[in-house]
Amino acid sequence: MSNQVKAIICPSILNADLANLAAECRKLLSAGSDYLHLDVMDGHFVPNLTFGHPVVECLRAQLGQEPFFDVHLMVAKPEQWLEPMAKAGANQFTFHWEAVDAEGGDAAVEQLIEKVKKAGLKVGLAIKPKTEVAKLLKFADNIDTALVMTVEPGFGGQKFMGDMMDKVREIRRLHPHLNIQVDGGVSASNIEVCAEAGANMIVSGTGIVRADDQKAVIETMRNTVNHAFAK
Ligand code: DX5
Ligand code: ZN
Repeated sequence: MSNQVKAIICPSILNADLANLAAECRKLLSAGSDYLHLDVMDGHFVPNLTFGHPVVECLRAQLGQEPFFDVHLMVAKPEQWLEPMAKAGANQFTFHWEAVDAEGGDAAVEQLIEKVKKAGLKVGLAIKPKTEVAKLLKFADNIDTALVMTVEPGFGGQKFMGDMMDKVREIRRLHPHLNIQVDGGVSASNIEVCAEAGANMIVSGTGIVRADDQKAVIETMRNTVNHAFAK
């Protein structure tokens, strides 16, 4: 695989100490994180609650303009949070196909993709484990990032679902230059599987945040992905 796709390591702060979020983010950034992956949950789309745009805004104020905020919306009606998230300083707005298509069909998904772009943000489209890859592939030409969930969304620290790699391989086969993100249970022990399948954007919560040496884990992940893409 030889193209300009490169490793982007995105630690998820879901299982970090949320009462010390800015400090946790600074630590991850100085350990070499490329992006910060911010998991937004509403208790409807997923059975858990986290935080919304007010926290993103405070983090932006604390961390300055530089860090890239990769915001993963696990919420019903994600479109209602686009403007607040844009104002709060989000850089990428990733929403779930399931949350939008169930209400408004393909046209609604297409519309939200365009709205995100108009708002000046990168757009990510996510699918849950039970959703076929074809649903996402329909939109792959118009997005910046395809997110293949490797756990049922809602909680950090779950077991990685290796059978999701078929989806990653299929997206990579058809879209050699697209950013493909994996999220859920990804760690140093399965990074090779993800990289070989064609994922270049690596979300890892527990695998990085709870590591004794965050820098070493991030470096291993980056090297493994870049090595797979240099083949
Ligand atoms: C799961 C979230 C993930 C998760 C990653 O619903 O979208 O970002 O927090 O955490 P780990 O790597 O611990 O599964
Ligand atoms: Zn996530």
